[in-house]
Amino acid sequence: MKVDLTNQVALVTGAARGIGRAIADQLAANGARVVYADLDFATAKAAAAHAPNASALAMDVSSDAQVEAGVAQIIKEQGHLDILVNNAGVNTIKHRVNIDQFPLEEWQRILSVDLTGLFLVSRAASRHMVERKSGRIVNISSVLGVVPARLQCAFTTAKAGVVQLTRTMAIELAPSNILVNCVAPGSTLTEGTKQLFYSQDAIMQERAQRMLSHVPLNRPGTVEEIAHAVLFFAAPESSYITGQTLCVDGGWTAGGFFRDF
Ligand SMILES: NC(=O)c1ccc[n+]([C@@H]2O[C@H](COP(=O)([O-])OP(=O)(O)OC[C@H]3O[C@@H](n4cnc5c(N)ncnc54)[C@H](O)[C@@H]3O)[C@@H](O)[C@H]2O)c1
Repeated sequence: MKVDLTNQVALVTGAARGIGRAIADQLAANGARVVYADLDFATAKAAAAHAPNASALAMDVSSDAQVEAGVAQIIKEQGHLDILVNNAGVNTIKHRVNIDQFPLEEWQRILSVDLTGLFLVSRAASRHMVERKSGRIVNISSVLGVVPARLQCAFTTAKAGVVQLTRTMAIELAPSNILVNCVAPGSTLTEGTKQLFYSQDAIMQERAQRMLSHVPLNRPGTVEEIAHAVLFFAAPESSYITGQTLCVDGGWTAGGFFRDF
């Protein structure tokens, strides 16, 4: 897919690696001046160095002060901000337990990045976009924000919040010509999830197999497949779509019990 994002400035959070990096790379390859923002500044800087017209920014999305300063810096240096991709996210590996055992600190850590962080960056960016009467915001949720799963109550709740916040932002910001949409990835191959899908460990292999049994295409997605969906929402041609969530999930949410029984 090729679109023209020349003269547009894009901010991608969590862009140092994984899905965020693929999104940032895709936007840059289509002409945008991309700011790779991440907690991990050194890796974000290294990623941005591979892209044309790109720069890196140290930003913890859960810190209101860092978000406000970061967005102000982009506008000062680049003149404007046209596209925001809220990708930064965390989940729990250690605490895969039901709600009765779920630690409050872990709940707060996940919600503060996956939902409050997305709110903070959207708030700062949309203030500027409202003034300009133009903008695109693409939020990254998860299929688990659309259908629930056990043992991840904080993540599923935060990601469901992202779907609803997308709709709320869409109706609030439509009069200012700002379009807000959401991409909900299914299982996607990143450095982190490769350990699950290609592990030699029998328990991990069994877990990966169980996860793939929900996926009609019977494989995880690639980061490029997620990035293409984001590019679609950022493209000038997608000018009559707002408030939508697109599941890029190999068919996972098309039907939970698709296998013969
Ligand atoms: N990989 C999957 O299978 C999958 C599935 C569904 C949804 N998602 C979502 O896609 C997004 C990206 O996932 P990924 O797998 O590429 O993750 P990842 O862990 O590979 O990368 C996440 C990036 O976000 C950064 N980050 C974490 N906390 C941050 C913070 N407070 N402020 C700024 N940056 C921060 C990390 O440093 C890292 O570079 C997340 O929102 C995730 O929930 C991923």
